[in-house]
Amino acid sequence: MDILKTFKRVDESMLGVFDFDHAPFKVKRVFFITSGAKTNCVRGKHAHLKCRQLLVCLSGQVEICVENKEGKNFINLSPSQSFLHENLEWAVLNSKEKNTTVLCLCSEEYDKEDYILDYDDFKTELNKIKTSEDERLKVLITGVAGLFGANFSRHLLKNGYDVVGIDNLSGGYHSSVPKGVKFYQTDLEDRKLTEEIFNREKPDFVYHFAAYASEGLSRFVRNYNYTSNVLCSANVINACINNGVKKLVFTSSMAVYGFGDPPFKEEQTPNPDDPYGVAKYAVEMDLAIANKMFGLNYSIIRPHNVVGLYQNIWDRYRNVIGIWIRQVINNEPITVFGDGSQVRAFSDINFCMEPLEKLIKDERTNGQIYNIGSDEYHTIDQAADLLIEIMKSRGHEPKKVYMAKREEVHVAYCNHDKAKKHLSFIDETNLRNVIEKMADWADEQPKRPVKDLEYEIEKKLYDYWATKTK
Ligand SMILES: NC(=O)c1ccc[n+]([C@@H]2O[C@H](COP(=O)([O-])OP(=O)(O)OC[C@H]3O[C@@H](n4cnc5c(N)ncnc54)[C@H](O)[C@@H]3O)[C@@H](O)[C@H]2O)c1
Repeated sequence: MDILKTFKRVDESMLGVFDFDHAPFKVKRVFFITSGAKTNCVRGKHAHLKCRQLLVCLSGQVEICVENKEGKNFINLSPSQSFLHENLEWAVLNSKEKNTTVLCLCSEEYDKEDYILDYDDFKTELNKIKTSEDERLKVLITGVAGLFGANFSRHLLKNGYDVVGIDNLSGGYHSSVPKGVKFYQTDLEDRKLTEEIFNREKPDFVYHFAAYASEGLSRFVRNYNYTSNVLCSANVINACINNGVKKLVFTSSMAVYGFGDPPFKEEQTPNPDDPYGVAKYAVEMDLAIANKMFGLNYSIIRPHNVVGLYQNIWDRYRNVIGIWIRQVINNEPITVFGDGSQVRAFSDINFCMEPLEKLIKDERTNGQIYNIGSDEYHTIDQAADLLIEIMKSRGHEPKKVYMAKREEVHVAYCNHDKAKKHLSFIDETNLRNVIEKMADWADEQPKRPVKDLEYEIEKKLYDYWATKTK
């Protein structure tokens, strides 16, 4: 990463003449950037897939921070010095003097598709070159368009894995799936198609996140609940066995504890209180059976009240923080079931990423179950008040309404000592920060419709769910 050439300047007032042969490519486009009267004017902040650029400092002083597969480097250019900025290099230009002008000679014509504007996408591209084909591990993620899938696929891509994703988009959005994922829009209920994808892709590892995860609603949609949470899981387990997957990671839930004694510990006997918890516990048991007979390696995590970007805030029935943010944005009052004294520990998804990856790196986690999430718990009412305060500071005028109490576990939070010990899990969830980040993200999202699910039982259905959304 050297400064390529120093071009001779004739004198301060004369126009510099540049011979196109000085560029190590055929110049197809020329432009310049100038800081005007400003110093520390930052430009660049992107990489190119194909385009190479010769950057020539014409006046002033520019510092270029370049990152490529070898790492990060700073280059300083004075007038008449140039730097060859290669493709797949992230560059940030900072003018150190007023009237700094940099001439850019490009190897390609302008093409919007050639720009990598997102730093995470750049890291993904870089990792593709860094790790050779044979070394790269292939991970298949089900539910890749959901909260866990969208976040964890980004984490894996950044860390040099090949990622294949399956989602039927029933609860996630295609726009949440990162670019580097080989995506199949497929319903896991289709056993043959699921088997075909596994057979074609031959993943090393599988993370099975796909589910319909509504504890409360599962009592009224038993068929849907058991189909998406048990039958689809059975199809995934079959496909893992048939295709020699090295390990399957399954996201169960804190719901398996039901009316246990909080903080829930992994060794407690599950006692689920709703069909969703029953479904998760059934799959946990089936995994142990599949391991015994076929040697399928697995780990189970039991997350709780996870929040983060890419969460479906348009789901009518689940993700309370997401629902509240949507309600505020839509100028609706935020809804609290019962008196809001229910206790939950909201957990920032970001702290789950490293521990999740560790499950496929460390064989000692095979056959183990881990609670994962925050130690810090709040009442629902406290969380609502915090959200109201945050949304008020953003110019909204949220109101809170109390709805009829619903059937649910009142106090639910977990102990995480095992994950801290085995998975180096560190949770630093700060609910205020998470809500603020989610609100920023939600502001950028398109307005999406909120869908009603078809209820299979209408008896005892709460009034607030019985009314159709407009
Ligand atoms: N988010 C939480 O707080 C939490 C807590 C406990 C457990 N979990 C579990 O973690 C996993 C991931 O949760 P999440 O919050 O990311 O959920 P999510 O709803 O955001 O994502 C699930 C994804 O699975 C997809 N999906 C559903 N059914 C499918 C099917 N039949 N075929 C293909 N795709 C299908 C949906 O379209 C969605 O994109 C789930 O198994 C959930 O039960 C989540």
